Amino acid sequence: MKGDGRRGGPVIAIDGPAAAGKGTLARRLAAALDLPHLDTGLLYRAVGRRVLDAGGDPADPAAAVREAEALTPADLARLNLRAAEVDRAASLVAAIPAVRARLLAFQRCFADPRGAVLDGRDIGTVVFPDADLKLFVTASDEERARRRWRELEGRGVAASFETVLADLRARDARDASRDVAPLRPADDAIVLDTTDLDPDAAFARALDIVREKFARA
Ligand code: DC
Repeated sequence: MKGDGRRGGPVIAIDGPAAAGKGTLARRLAAALDLPHLDTGLLYRAVGRRVLDAGGDPADPAAAVREAEALTPADLARLNLRAAEVDRAASLVAAIPAVRARLLAFQRCFADPRGAVLDGRDIGTVVFPDADLKLFVTASDEERARRRWRELEGRGVAASFETVLADLRARDARDASRDVAPLRPADDAIVLDTTDLDPDAAFARALDIVREKFARA
C-alpha cells in the first residue's frame, strides 16, 4: 500500500494555475488511458456556489464548512459553476483549511480502486503525494488570460482582456499564497509549459511523458 493509503490502479496528478489547459489535458489523458477523471476545482466551485446561494460570505469559515459538509454529487453537475463570481468564491473557500480537509477523503476515494486522473492545485503535493505521475501544467499569464477571454467570448460573456488578466492574477496570487496546500509544483512533478502549444500538441507531449514513465515502471 502506498503512503496515501492507496492499493489500486495508477494515479496521475495534474496541477497548475487557472486556464493553463490542465482540465482539457486531464480529460483527454483519462479517456486515452481508460481511467476515471476528476476535476477537483469543481468541488471548490460547488462549495462556493452553495455559500453564495445561501446568501453567505465565501471567506467565512463557518459558512463554507457548512456547505462543504452538505455537498452532494448533484452540486457538481450544476451549470453555473464557471461564472465569474464563482471563480472568486471558489478561491476564497479553497483557502479555508477545514474545507480542504473535508474534501480530501472524497478525492482519495475517487481513485480507488481503478486509479484516476485528477486535476487541481494540490493533487501532487497533498492529495496524492505518492501519485504514479505528476504533471505541473502552466503557461504565461498573458496566454492564460487570452484563453480565458476567448472562452468567455465564445459563451457570449462580455469582458475586457485587462479585467480577465487582473482577475486571473488575483486568483493565482490567492491560490499560491494561502497557508494550506498552496499552488506549487511538487518536487517530483514534470513541468509542461503550454504557452506555445495548442491543445493537441500539449496532449501529444503529455502522452509521450506518460508512455515513457509507465514503460520504465
Ligand atoms: O481549477 P479551477 O479554476 O476550477 O479551481 C477553482 C478554485 O479552486 C481555484 O481558485 C483553486 C481552487 N482549487 C484548489 O484550491 N485546489 C484544487 N485541488 C482545485 C482547485
